[in-house]
Amino acid sequence: MPHLLVVHHTTSPATQELLEAALAGTRAEGLDAVQVQVRPALAATLVDLLAADGLVLGTPANIGYMSGALKTFFDLVYYPALTAKAGAPYGLYVHGNSDTGGAVRAVEAIAKGMGWQRVAEPVTVIGMPDRAALDRVWNLAATVAATLLG
Ligand SMILES: Cc1cc2nc3c(=O)[nH]c(=O)nc-3n(C[C@H](O)[C@H](O)[C@H](O)COP(=O)(O)O)c2cc1C
Repeated sequence: MPHLLVVHHTTSPATQELLEAALAGTRAEGLDAVQVQVRPALAATLVDLLAADGLVLGTPANIGYMSGALKTFFDLVYYPALTAKAGAPYGLYVHGNSDTGGAVRAVEAIAKGMGWQRVAEPVTVIGMPDRAALDRVWNLAATVAATLLG
């Protein structure tokens, strides 16, 4: 059974809505065979990553970068899992209130360093998410999960 790991830093009602949309996407029709682990970034471990076949990452943009929480996760796993998950599909959503570009670039650079495969465009949401934004996050997560089923 393929394992999808959702690593998120959720700090507010807006980011909670995005997380819930992502989790709903992982439960889309036809994805029952995907086992989903949900981990706040500060509680996600190397063991969680090693058990995963793909990832959904979610973070706010903070001071032009990903959250410190998601960066901490990467700091913990980068070298120990540097090649272990090469080719793993991943998707990213970023929430911000002005500019999410730096956060996206930072996550993509690290994911590229670990050889992960981006299987959907990163979803960026500014301000309170509307229906379209939630749908984009839902689709992102469903796409990553579907990739695990081949
Ligand atoms: C210290 C700090 C730095 C932030 N820096 C950015 C930033 O660089 N770009 C951005 O778009 N939003 C930035 N934000 C806004 C957060 O991304 C936003 O507060 C978070 O996504 C939660 O959304 P909410 O404020 O709508 O609840 C920052 C927030 C804080 C607290």
